[in-house]
Amino acid sequence: MADIRLVNVSKQFGSVRVIENVTMTIGSGEFMVFLGPSGCGKSTLLRMIAGLEEIDGGEIHIGDRRVDALPPSEREIAMVFQNYALYPHMSVRENMSFGLQNIRMPRDEIARRVAAAAKTLELEHLIDRKPGQLSGGQRQRVAIGRAIVRDPKAFLFDEPLSNLDAGLRVRTRIEFAQLHQRMKTTMIFVTHDQIEAMTLADRIVVMNNRKIEQIGTPMEIYNRPASRFVAAFVGSPSMNFLPVQQISDRDGKVLVRLPDNSEIQTNIVSSRVPDDGKVTFGIRPESVKVSATGAISGKADVVERLGERTLAYVRLADNSVLIAEDEGQSNLNVGDQVRLDIDGASAHLFDARDVAYSAA
Ligand SMILES: Nc1ncnc2c1ncn2[C@@H]1O[C@H](COP(=O)(O)OP(=O)(O)OP(=O)(O)O)[C@@H](O)[C@H]1O
Ligand SMILES: [Mg+2]
Repeated sequence: MADIRLVNVSKQFGSVRVIENVTMTIGSGEFMVFLGPSGCGKSTLLRMIAGLEEIDGGEIHIGDRRVDALPPSEREIAMVFQNYALYPHMSVRENMSFGLQNIRMPRDEIARRVAAAAKTLELEHLIDRKPGQLSGGQRQRVAIGRAIVRDPKAFLFDEPLSNLDAGLRVRTRIEFAQLHQRMKTTMIFVTHDQIEAMTLADRIVVMNNRKIEQIGTPMEIYNRPASRFVAAFVGSPSMNFLPVQQISDRDGKVLVRLPDNSEIQTNIVSSRVPDDGKVTFGIRPESVKVSATGAISGKADVVERLGERTLAYVRLADNSVLIAEDEGQSNLNVGDQVRLDIDGASAHLFDARDVAYSAA
């Protein structure tokens, strides 16, 4: 188990820069998730830590060793790929033993490690099967087992759940969380799925466009997004954004006027927010409630019943649309006039450069 430090790491393919000056520390034993849209550089960053891709600038340290010039085999970390890459003609036991035989580990030590990994991963009853006789989730566990037996300092996973169907994805996600609780080894997990990131991570690295947007715990990222990108990417459905007509100050906190002329009192310190006429208001759907006594009125364009809650896409007088929440048993219908109650205390503001301001 070791920490992993990246200092000003950069990468370009030909003339295209894909990673720019990334600096971060992944703590020893931490479960870190790299989250971001397709093409933002998550896999490239992971592959550079594993040594499968060279870096063009900066340094990578694992524990007290600088590793960026070392080949993958000397970095003492294990990478598990999305497609598992198991040997089809070998049994589960042979797949897990193979790498250790190659480095001439004594046979009884190999047997001991494979048995321990099979126990941890609940693969004991499948140990003599071939990959073709396993489900996707079981194959996934064998691929992890093959990594565990090497006793690496860290595990790297690149979208390990993306091949699984929805139900298995959720179950395997829980297995990952339990595996980390048991092993307490440093893990880096790449995904573009914000729910996977929120549920698994000790901390999330939100990436976009070659760069880190924010590093923080799931709730820090959710409650205090650093940028409009993070605010929009994390949370489902996405945060509502409305242009602000005017901002003013009340008791040191920002009061905003929205396009439909309604006023919302926020809990955001006025002195921090630039008053340049280019401020955007952000509010999550769960902070916009359908309520008979709400101050804002509109018409329900779309009603989505999710069982435990209902989402309403409400068109305001100025034609802007807010996604609002109602109870699961809501009797709201498309076309209904509705009133909305916005919880201004949980609002966010964004300036012209998309920097975010949240409640104190
Ligand atoms: N070998 C390569 N040569 C040239 N460009 C590459 C190469 N590998 C990746 N890229 C580019 O680098 C960028 C980052 O790719 P990367 O695979 O790291 O993205 P990602 O965040 O993992 O995306 P996804 O979620 O789709 O897997 C992309 O624009 C990609 O096209
Ligand atoms: Mg990728």
